Amino acid sequence: MPPLFSKTEHLIGLDIGTHSIKLTQVQSGDIKPKLVSMGIASLPRDAFAEGRIAQPDLVANLIRQLTTHLKIKQKSAAVSVSGYDVMIKKIELPTMTEEELETRMHSELGQYIPYNIDEVDIDYQVLDIAKDRPNFMEVLLVAAKKESIGDFNNLLKIAGLDPYVVDVDFFALGNAFEITYGFEEERIALIDIGASKSVMNISHKGIPIFTRSISIGGNQVTDNLKNFFNISFEEAEKVKLGETSENYAAQDMEEVFVSTVSGWVNECRRAVDFYYNNYPDSRIEKLYLSGGSCRLPGLDRVFQEQIEIPVEIFNPIAHLTYETKQFDPAYIEYIGPQMAISLGLALRKSKEK
Ligand SMILES: Nc1ncnc2c1ncn2[C@@H]1O[C@H](COP(=O)(O)OP(=O)(O)OP(=O)(O)O)[C@@H](O)[C@H]1O
Ligand SMILES: [Mg+2]
Repeated sequence: MPPLFSKTEHLIGLDIGTHSIKLTQVQSGDIKPKLVSMGIASLPRDAFAEGRIAQPDLVANLIRQLTTHLKIKQKSAAVSVSGYDVMIKKIELPTMTEEELETRMHSELGQYIPYNIDEVDIDYQVLDIAKDRPNFMEVLLVAAKKESIGDFNNLLKIAGLDPYVVDVDFFALGNAFEITYGFEEERIALIDIGASKSVMNISHKGIPIFTRSISIGGNQVTDNLKNFFNISFEEAEKVKLGETSENYAAQDMEEVFVSTVSGWVNECRRAVDFYYNNYPDSRIEKLYLSGGSCRLPGLDRVFQEQIEIPVEIFNPIAHLTYETKQFDPAYIEYIGPQMAISLGLALRKSKEK
């Protein structure tokens, strides 16, 4: 009898951010995937330093607590490196078979990648037939720093898990969208706003056309509240989340929110303009916001007003099936957008990108 589920069926999707670890597990359902487990663990601020994991034992321990708490038996996990640690390049090659491509990639990679080949892991994927050259195909090359991949592999081992695949955050975000929302709109922009960074992916029918990491995130709101009210970062974080009984004027808070978010919109707009300069005829139909910071009150409104693309909050978890005995719909509504990247990782089917 064949196994009921293939090895990858309950892949653990782990999004290890600088603010929190997000874990998602799904199984395939009749029409839509079904949510099996989901959890989140906050990290202390010094767990990461300058984008790298500074305290692997502490982070691994929290992952282990999370899997134990969620009673997860599987070991295979998918994680992602930040787009800051990868280089993406699109090249055009004459149409050829997979085998021919593999041979060619092995012998010619050096000329496409401006790094020492020993320091990066390289993956590639055929995207499409080249637009203006019928006998050519577009190939996406991804080179990720070995050091960064090594950090994650090491972390998972300490946490007692097996690394199944190391993806890149913006591809995982695109994957989450493709599988839950489909292609109703052909050309969409995804922006996942975390604590210290944001991830952007503009895709056309599931093919990533433009990907970028942007250094904007919720910590900036907290820092600005800290400076405005002259309070500690911890207190400012509570103010931001509405968790303190102290009275801070709503108008002051609004002012800090709006001025910070306007800065974010400017950054995103620059990226969108860059995209439009390269693809002048392709209108972005909708912009989807996710990540913990998309819960900032009025964020979608400020984006919508200033970026002139219809804006929506992206909640891929709400598009899955799940047992309402196990997951409260109100909680799914609240937490879903923050889980987008971890879901994209959990939905990874194969090791090939
Ligand atoms: N209700 C809320 N209102 C405003 N901000 C919020 C809310 N809930 C969470 N956040 C913010 O979301 C951020 C955490 O989001 P997320 O988990 O996506 O980040 P991360 O993935 O850990 O970080 P990064 O991707 O930047 O490394 C924090 O800055 C947190 O303060
Ligand atoms: Mg994140």
